[in-house]
Amino acid sequence: MATGAGGVMSLGFEIFTLFPEAVAGFLQAGLMGKAITAGHISVHTTNFREFASDRHRTVDDTPYGGGAGMLLKPGPVVAALEHAVAARGPMHTVMLTPAAPTFDQRAARRLATLPRIGILCGRYEGFDDRVRDCVDECLSIGDFVLNGGEVAALVLVEAIARLRQGVLGNPESIAHESFAETGGDDRWLEPPHFTRPVVFRGLEVPKVLQGGNHRAIARYRQVEAWRRTWALRPQLRPRLRLCDEQPLYCLAPGELADTIKSHGLEPLSGPIDAKRVRKQLTRRHGCAPRWVGLGLGGGNPTAASVPASANPKQVLDLLAVTGALSEQTPIVLVLDQVIASPKTDEGILTNAAQPQPDAHQRRWPAPVEAVIQMSADAHQIPGRELAQRSQIYESSQPRVPGEWIDQVLSRVLSTLRQP
Ligand SMILES: C[S@@+](CC[C@H](N)C(=O)[O-])C[C@H]1O[C@@H](n2cnc3c(N)ncnc32)[C@H](O)[C@@H]1O
Repeated sequence: MATGAGGVMSLGFEIFTLFPEAVAGFLQAGLMGKAITAGHISVHTTNFREFASDRHRTVDDTPYGGGAGMLLKPGPVVAALEHAVAARGPMHTVMLTPAAPTFDQRAARRLATLPRIGILCGRYEGFDDRVRDCVDECLSIGDFVLNGGEVAALVLVEAIARLRQGVLGNPESIAHESFAETGGDDRWLEPPHFTRPVVFRGLEVPKVLQGGNHRAIARYRQVEAWRRTWALRPQLRPRLRLCDEQPLYCLAPGELADTIKSHGLEPLSGPIDAKRVRKQLTRRHGCAPRWVGLGLGGGNPTAASVPASANPKQVLDLLAVTGALSEQTPIVLVLDQVIASPKTDEGILTNAAQPQPDAHQRRWPAPVEAVIQMSADAHQIPGRELAQRSQIYESSQPRVPGEWIDQVLSRVLSTLRQP
């Protein structure tokens, strides 16, 4: 296998096309040009037309069964492939067509491990379908149709080549880009980035990025990547589910203990010292608990300082992207009553930073790190009962509507356990 500068293994591309000149210019520019000069990447182009057997160098013909347009004949295409293999060695071959699985970063990572890749660019209405049987795989670059495969081939070449050692100036940048693998199959869009000036047309760079708190910056980036992925490309997110044996706790007023137990959760009632509970659970399960608020709508604490979603799966994703989450990780659900009932001691969550719940603002206190924010609609809680519920918050003797909690826990847990 060939090596480039610094003894790094080089990657060889073979591009098969009717228009070699259409790919040549692009490959001379920027980092691709440098990578080719340094010998990290090599690109060889072959024109199908050179392998046509008649004196007019015909490479296309009309489709059997009729229809618009012409097709690339299989003979010249396969002859060109076989010639390149005989001349320069075996390769993994890819036929480009919109009628194929989509090329993505995962495919780029897979292909970047190979030493030689051949890419077949179609023209006209594409290839005679028997060419599929002569290649290793077919790929599309997206759900749209180009006139030819040359641009698509360059997309593959650049996306694959930049993953190879020596091609990028700073290899670290790959680890923090969109679609980077951050553990298992996790895939996220990258968070927003900003440069100078600090204010542009009235838009200010988020304060957290202007400060030097690296932990806060890392957390901001994780949360924004999560928020953006869910908003723009939810299909990319990891398919997490709560495992059946996940240790689950629920911090709630004592009168709900039986309801909570009936869902397989261990009730915790207060007053609760978060630090002490954290220690206990860490000792018991070998990993620190994660704390999730459960807001039931109507007078519940504000989630202004804590990321919230009505979708329990989205909250599970947030836990995974912002910290350790394994099958052994205990999850403590904190019912909003324990914060929103400041006039009672029952079930109150305390911690050193915030010893008393903020009765006025009704904020979720640390250590709650994410909130499943239910709307009354989502749980079919009738409006009349919701109004009653607001009164409950104001009363000094909160009555806890056990049947609502029952309903909410069933829904939340079954959603979290869905594949
Ligand atoms: C006009 S297209 C053929 C489209 C084909 N008749 C169809 O409907 O799927 C000609 C060639 O451009 C290339 N091409 C067009 N769109 C592409 C895409 N989204 N991904 C990969 N290659 C594409 C393929 O090599 C294809 O053979």
